[in-house]
This record gives sequence, C-alpha cells and structure tokens, in this order.
Amino acid sequence: MELCVALDLPSAKENLALAESLKSYNVWMKVGFRAYIRDGKAFIEDLKAINPDFKIFLDLKLYDIPNTMADAAEEIAKLGVNMFNIHASAGSVAMKTVMERLSSYENRPLVLAVTALTSFDEINFQAVYEKSINEKAEQFAKMSYEYGLDGVVCSTFESRVIKQATSETFLTLCPGIRPFGEDAGDQQRVATLELANTEDVDYSVVGRPIYKDPDPQAKVEDILEVIATF
Ligand code: C5P
Repeated sequence: MELCVALDLPSAKENLALAESLKSYNVWMKVGFRAYIRDGKAFIEDLKAINPDFKIFLDLKLYDIPNTMADAAEEIAKLGVNMFNIHASAGSVAMKTVMERLSSYENRPLVLAVTALTSFDEINFQAVYEKSINEKAEQFAKMSYEYGLDGVVCSTFESRVIKQATSETFLTLCPGIRPFGEDAGDQQRVATLELANTEDVDYSVVGRPIYKDPDPQAKVEDILEVIATF
C-alpha cells in the first residue's frame, strides 16, 4: 500500500512547506481543486523542484463531454503528473476517448475513475444514482476495467469486491482513510490503515489527519511505519 498525502491547505506556501517536510519519504502528493485552481501549473513545478521523485496525483475528477475530457487529459499528460482521475459516470465513450487520446504518450499518467465519493452515505447516494453504493461501484469499476483504465477511486469498503469483479492488479485508491481512527469530518465511509490493508487498498489518501496534526511529519512517519508492517 502507498500513502497519498492530500495538499489541501489554504495557501501554496503552507502546501509547499508540508511537501518540503515530507521530501525524504516515499509518498504521493495529491493536488486537488483547491491547490490547482489557485496555484496551477507552477505549483506542480514547485513540487517537482522540492523532490523530482515525488509522484503526483492530480485529483481534478474530470466530468464533461468526451472530447473535452480527452483534451484535458492530454494537457494533464503534458504536465508530467503520474496519475489523474475522471468521473466514471461520464460514461464509457468518455473513458474510451480519453484512453485513446493518451495512447500515444509514452509514460502516460495512470487514469482512475471515481465510483462513489466517500462523502456519500447510502441514502444520499441512492437519491442520485438509484442503486446501492456497492452495486454501482462494482458496475462503474467493471466499465472502467473494460475500457482500459488503470483503476478506480472508491471507499475501502468496495475495494475487495471491485478487485474480485475486475482483476487483482486493477488499482484501488481510497480517500477517507483515518489512519488511527481520527475525526471523519465530512467523510461518511472512513476506514483505518489496518482495514485498508485487509481490503487490499493500493493507495490510501490522507488529508486532514496529516495536515491538521500539530506534527505532520511525525504523523507521516507513524503511518509509513504501520504500512511497512503489512
Ligand atoms: O481530509 P481528507 O483525508 O478527508 O481528504 C480526502 C481527500 O481526498 C480530499 O482532498 C478529497 O477531495 C479527496 N477525495 C475524496 N473522495 C473521493 C475522491 C477524492 O475525499 N472520492
């Protein structure tokens, strides 16, 4: 399992200070809406300047018409990030168009599809998708696998079912990880590192439990220590 640290702080300066404190660890940096909308491409370059080996996950959850998504995917590939995501509910044509467009890129970024946001509980999810989280996440995962994506974003609770329905090598990236049972905040389907390991999660995304900790570096060390025992 790998650790993905969400850089969701209120300023580039704070995000970069966090990245600087983590530059000697083998962790992914997750750049989401807040950081990318505010700080853009320069922020990606600043992260690479801190550590050229940082793996970067651009979490922009693309959702648009297929051609617009493929155009955006190509721009993302040019940024030199290692992973990005789209919404599975954009559909199979969007998935196919995105993957075709990226096929000419050597070392293309990994492409994941968001199944059910971890902030959804069952009732609110069904109000939008009219199916249970498990059923829909499995359906979205099978579609993503069929159209050549590398994996999905899901909660820990769907990870194993998704691998059984697709392949053991199909990646699962799970936000809502509360490493040692910290406060859930707005997340509904949270899990500890232990559970994420049991459920075969490939990437654990952790934001607030790290950056709101008085000592984020020590917290990352504690997390990596636990991961090393798996
Ligand atoms: O602070 P917390 O650990 O809850 O952060 C989770 C991060 O993962 C946030 O940056 C959020 O945008 C992202 N995310 C998520 N659920 C998804 C996809 C991404 O929480 N399905």
